This record gives sequence, structure tokens and C-alpha cells, in this order.
Amino acid sequence: MGLEQELNELLEVEKFEPSAEFRAGALLSDPSVYAEASADPEAWWLRQATELLDWVQEPSQGLDASNPPFYKWFADGRLNASANCLDRHVEAGLGDRVAYHWRGEEGEERDVTYAQLLADVKRFANALKGIGIGKGDVVGIYLPMIPEVVVAMLACARIGAVHNVVFGGFSAEAVRERMEFSEAKALITVDGARRKGKTAPIKAPVDEQMGDLASLETIVVVRHTGIDCPMQEGRDRFYDELLEAADPECPPEPLDAEDPLFILYTSGSTAKPKGILHTTGGYMTGVTATHRYVFDIKPESDVYWCAADVGWVTGHSYIVYGPLSNGVTSVMWEGAPDYPHKGVWWENVARYKATILYAAPTAIRTFIKWGAEIPAEHDLSSLRLLGSVGEPINPKAWLWYHKVIGGERCPIVDTWWQTETGAIMITPLPGITATKPGSATTPFPGVGAEVMGESDGELIENGKGLLVLTRPWPSMLRTLYREEERFVETYFSKFGRETYLVGDAARRDEDGYFWVIGRSDDAVNVSGHLLSTAEVESAIVHHEKVAEAAVIGQSDEDTGQAICAFVTLVADVEPSDELVEEVRAEVAEHIGKLARPKRVIWADDLPKTRSGKIMRRLLRDIAEGRAMGDVTTLRDPAVMEELERKVAARRDEEG
Ligand code: PRX
Repeated sequence: MGLEQELNELLEVEKFEPSAEFRAGALLSDPSVYAEASADPEAWWLRQATELLDWVQEPSQGLDASNPPFYKWFADGRLNASANCLDRHVEAGLGDRVAYHWRGEEGEERDVTYAQLLADVKRFANALKGIGIGKGDVVGIYLPMIPEVVVAMLACARIGAVHNVVFGGFSAEAVRERMEFSEAKALITVDGARRKGKTAPIKAPVDEQMGDLASLETIVVVRHTGIDCPMQEGRDRFYDELLEAADPECPPEPLDAEDPLFILYTSGSTAKPKGILHTTGGYMTGVTATHRYVFDIKPESDVYWCAADVGWVTGHSYIVYGPLSNGVTSVMWEGAPDYPHKGVWWENVARYKATILYAAPTAIRTFIKWGAEIPAEHDLSSLRLLGSVGEPINPKAWLWYHKVIGGERCPIVDTWWQTETGAIMITPLPGITATKPGSATTPFPGVGAEVMGESDGELIENGKGLLVLTRPWPSMLRTLYREEERFVETYFSKFGRETYLVGDAARRDEDGYFWVIGRSDDAVNVSGHLLSTAEVESAIVHHEKVAEAAVIGQSDEDTGQAICAFVTLVADVEPSDELVEEVRAEVAEHIGKLARPKRVIWADDLPKTRSGKIMRRLLRDIAEGRAMGDVTTLRDPAVMEELERKVAARRDEEG
């Protein structure tokens, strides 16, 4: 029987139960944990906090809900995140355990132990103090996937500075914007970054953008590629020189549970990204508990690989804070999935005998396209658990992952969560939950999730609606940095101050399982990366020949969604292929290559209401080839007929 046929047969299987063997060895195998948590969620979380973390002062209380939606957790507790990630393991005699098997693009390897990581973090924390960074100061981090990124983050955490990491795929201009919004005092970056055998300068473009930023006092440069980079006297310092000159001793600063740990910008429904703020005690509790129980972590024997980038929340929670807090050994891979060859992921799994792999559906779909023969050339028998994150996983991809990568023996945890939630919210527990391909299943113990009717806020037991979280949870965002009103308005206005509006549409089935459908707002999810349509539009209209743009997300076989831009040019400019490339380059410059539109459709006019609002809903309809919704509010319905023809013609062209 061929693979295709086998997968089709598996499509008939409704539920996949955990094997008796997996269940027998699992940390959690008794479903009573759900009842216990929901009987008293606050007490349950408090128990996680005190059992799983080391506190300088243990919290006496769980939740403070006196001022919703400004919730506090473990408010009288004091702790330090870096001490929980490093010192406690080293003090327990585990200093020689590898924290990261790092592997670079060209096959270089570096094993970094917990003791080595701690030594570097202490020195770098002192170096930060030396350049004037103190508690509450914001430090930008713009680094590739190298161990120094972890050192930088934990050094901030050690002294109570607030890190603001920007994904390496964003442009220098996007970095500047995020440094400006957060008034960062320092930025830690790199000489250059490698991607598929090429080296791109990073420090030089950063300099061009950052020149006149008043708040920024220091730029620290990690020498990674060795390429020449401009250094500004008095402002710029090399990381290795700072480290060497620094005092090796630096006790962790005891922080309040509610002291900020980091800001991470994510896309919203306007062009301005949202600065999600996470605090120390609740976040550490959330990521430590979910990482431990969702991935069934056995720190003595597991080798865990989260193949995300540290610049996204997945990297923060499940490459850095969760795994280190649990004291497990991780794999850290610098490169792309197809360099130097398309089997490099599987080579990494076999090389480090990875037991757990956590990846995005878009990667899995790419591997499906490349063919099952490629993973088959590698020994994947060490794997015992697989995870998925970032976007809905289609059942076919789930089954391929299960069969080809997991050899039908590994449970799959499809984990739903967001930058805002800090930690996994809806997920199977691998020793308990029967999984259904494509469903993230049910809320993690202690988490309250529901589906609500869009117009009336009625609970929907079995059907489609808006996903909401009905109870505060420890790792929830505390606010949007310096935008308190926007925080309340975005998440706690539609259904009141005690119901968190997720921004996703979801369905609940007859077993109460959740099926997340996708965003219900103006965000687009490209390869698991959330982008804002408004942000892309504002980048496109920077082009001098562009008059107006409307951007939508279009379903895409490879990337989940792809960006499609409808663009109106200024008078007397003719559309051309060069202009398409220029528009794409404009987006790359302002945001990053990842946000470039896959399709640009030239439009003589855009569909607008009589009051001038662009009706993106209609553009989405024609882009998906659906019947168009209500057009009666349009100023000029003929605009849509024209665009519909163009979209259809493009579809024919692409075959
Ligand atoms: O739409 C959901 C989708 O990703 C959004 C969150 O994106 P971000 O804040 O960038 O965090 C991504 C990593 C957690 C969600 O609102 N999403 C995330 N995980 C899933 C998902 N959609 C379906 N299934 C998932 N497992």
C-alpha cells in the first residue's frame, strides 16, 4: 500500500488514544487532574507555582482580581527567572548537563552546559550594569539563533531589565520602530547573520536606522560571522570584550512576581504593533507547568527540540524559559530547513537523539512536498513525542507527521496559544487525551476557554463562534506596553472586562473539543507568523507611485495564508512587473521579507463604502473564489466586478 493510501485510511480514524506504554510512563496519566484544577483553579495554579519554581519568598496568594482586567498573580512572591533557569540546576549538581546542543548552518557544533550558560549570564549581567542598565530599563535584542541570544535574555532577567527581542527576519526599520516605542536604552545585535550559505550585514543597516534614536545609549555587537562592521566610538561595544572584562559574580536580583520580564511586539489590527508585556512569577509558572506536562518532560533523559525562532513567543517560552526552568537538554538549530540539504532536520534529530520535536505545520507541509523518502534516510527512532504550533494543522499534515516522522508511536500535541497568553492554553495532555487530527482538543488544566456567538455572546456548545478565555491565567499579558487603553479595548471590551477576546474563530464539536479556524480580525498568519494587514498596507503606500493599497490574507497550500495586495497606482503610472518587485521590496524594507505580498493585483479603484472605508471582506471573498457578500453599501459596485475578473484571470495564469 502506498503512503497516500495509508494516510487516506488513517483519515477514517476518529480518535488516537495514547498508547498503554506511553500512558504508563507519562508524568500525567490520570484525567482527574482536570477536575482538580477546575474545582479551584487559583489553588491549582498556586500549587504549580510553589512546586515547580524556586522562590526567594513564596507567594501566599494566587490571583488578585480586584481590578479586572488588570489581574495580578502571586503578588507577594519574590523570585528571579534566571535563577530558576540556571542557578538552581547548577546548585543541584547538574551544571555539566548540556542546556543546548547548538548547531550552526555549516555544521559547526557547540554544546553549552548549564554551568557555562550561568557563568556567561552572570558576566553579561554585570556588563549590562556597567553600561548603565538597571531594573526596569528596556534592552532590545536583535540576534540570530545562537546561544548568545539566551545569555542576553537571561542576563536582563537576572538584573530586572526588560528585554524586547525582535525576530531576526524583521528589517532594521522594524527594529528601530520597536526600540523607539519601548524607549530601549541598549540594543544587543550582531555583526552579520548567515542564511543558506550567505552572510548578510546586520550591524550596518541597524546603524542606518538607529543613528538618531535619543534613548539608545549603547549597542552591543556579538561577533558571529566575522564580517567587518561599523562601530561608533562611545556608543558601540563588542560583546566578547564586555564579557571578558566583567566580574564573574552576580547574584540574581530578587524581583516581585509582578515585575516585568519582557516585552514582545506582535501584530495588531492597526499598523502599530502591540507591545505585549509579561511579568515574572505568572509567566514562569505558566511556561514551566505547560512545558513540563504538555511535553511530558523527563529532564534526565529527554533531548527536546523546538524548531522555532527565539524571536517569536514560541522561542521565548519553549526554547528559553520553559525548557531551562525544567532543566532539560535542548537542540538549537541556527539554520533553514533546506540548508545544506533538505534532510538536515532529520539529521539533527538522529545526531542528538532528539526525543521531542515541536514544530509548525508550515514546516511539516514543506516536508510533505519534499517527500517521505528524505526523513526515511535518517534514524528517527529516538522520537517519542511530537508537537505542533502557530497555525491550524490540517488533518492530512497531522497524519503525515504521525506516520512518517512519529512512526505511529508518538502522540502529537497540537498546542494553541498566543504571544498574549504567554503559554500553551488549549492542548492535549499526551498521556491522557485522545487526539483528533486538526483539533487542539481541550484547555490545559486550570484554563477556561469557550466559544461565544459573535453578536450575542451566547455560549456555543457545539458549533462555530469566537474563541474566548473566561478565566485569568498566570502567564497572561498584563498590558500593552504604554498603551493601557488599547489593552482594554482590544481584549476586554467586546464581552466585558472578565472575558478575554482571543481574536480567533473556533468551533466546538460534540465532545467539547476545540477546532481553531483562524483569525477573526485583520491579522494574517503566514507560515505561523502573525502579520498585520494594516502594517503591510502602510509599508506599500510608502512607494511613491502607489496611491492606495488594501491587503488581505488568502488561503495558501504551503504557508496557510499568503498576503495578497490590491494596489492602486497614482495617475499616469502604468503597472509593470518591475513595479511589483518594487512594491515587494518596499515591504521588505519597512517590515521584513516575510511580509512581502505573494500576489499584487493592480486595481483602478478599491471597494469602498460611501463613507470611504475599504471593504476588505469583499476582497477576501473574491480572493477565495467565494460568492461575494453584501455589496449594497458600496459606493461603486462596478469596482468589484472589475477586481473579480482580475483575480480570476490571475488564478487561470497560475493554473
Ligand atoms: O490564530 C492563532 C494561531 O496563531 C495566533 C497567535 O500567533 P502568535 O501570537 O504569533 O503566537 C504564535 C505561537 C503561539 C493565534 O491567535 N495559532 C497558534 N497556535 C495555533 C493557532 N491556530 C490553530 N492551531 C494552533 N495550534
